[in-house]
Amino acid sequence: MSSVLPRSQLAPSPAPPAPAGSKGAAPVATGEPLIRLRRVTKVYGSGSAAFQALRGVDLDIDAGEFVAIMGPSGSGKSTAMNILGCLDTPTTGAYEFRGVAVQNLTRDQRARLRRRWLGFVFQGFNLLARTSALENVELPLLYRGVPGEQRHAAARQALALVGLAGWETHTPAELSGGQQQRVAIARAIVSEPAVLLADEPTGNLDTARSREIMELLRDLNERNQITVLMVTHEAEMASYARRIVHFVDGVVDSDVVQRSAGGRS
Ligand SMILES: Nc1ncnc2c1ncn2[C@@H]1O[C@H](COP(=O)(O)OP(=O)(O)O)[C@@H](O)[C@H]1O
Ligand SMILES: [Mg+2]
Repeated sequence: MSSVLPRSQLAPSPAPPAPAGSKGAAPVATGEPLIRLRRVTKVYGSGSAAFQALRGVDLDIDAGEFVAIMGPSGSGKSTAMNILGCLDTPTTGAYEFRGVAVQNLTRDQRARLRRRWLGFVFQGFNLLARTSALENVELPLLYRGVPGEQRHAAARQALALVGLAGWETHTPAELSGGQQQRVAIARAIVSEPAVLLADEPTGNLDTARSREIMELLRDLNERNQITVLMVTHEAEMASYARRIVHFVDGVVDSDVVQRSAGGRS
């Protein structure tokens, strides 16, 4: 995304680590999806308490897509998002990110992949209280060792990108829910991820604020070429996406590309 600091100005950003013997972290080969799930299962717990949340998910996502994931409560949407976001691992099956077999990475390698390539937004905003918007947005850069001045500049740009220029010193308590979610989105994109993963980002917002957040996600997708994966159970919010993937009982039940996407129909 060109409107925030070019990658070269950020901290060293190594390609995702490749386990020995893998084909490595070379740029995605032509025709290869950014994300590929194959027969992914997830079992929580064990013995008589075991619960199979995912029962064999196959999903390909190309760079630049805007995908909404829908489905009933308990159908495995968050489980799939956590796996895609390297916050959790499949019980069986394969997850390739840019051709790298994520399930073969160590915990550290996965954490690095996550910090370098992925941004997260949650329903509950998850901002630090009594901490300014600017400092909240700077956090991921702090973890990456980006020096102060550069951090401030990047965080300011990210806040401006989400429409919060001038709100840098405000704490979450001084911001509306919609503004807090914007701060969370700025924090997610400040490290210039390839993919933004948002799990019910409008779940705590009213309809008007939800639409604004969806418009922001659409703009980030269209203008900044960020691949967006978003869970929602509201059809109106899903209509902003180009493609809607429906989960039912831990599998992909339908996968539809919409003709009139973008909330403009
Ligand atoms: N950490 C966990 N331990 C045990 N069961 C879980 C855990 N997380 C989710 N589940 C169960 O897995 C199923 C899928 O959950 P989830 O992926 O959160 O669904 P969704 O996001 O579609 O509502 C649900 O039945 C849920 O209760
Ligand atoms: Mg969920």
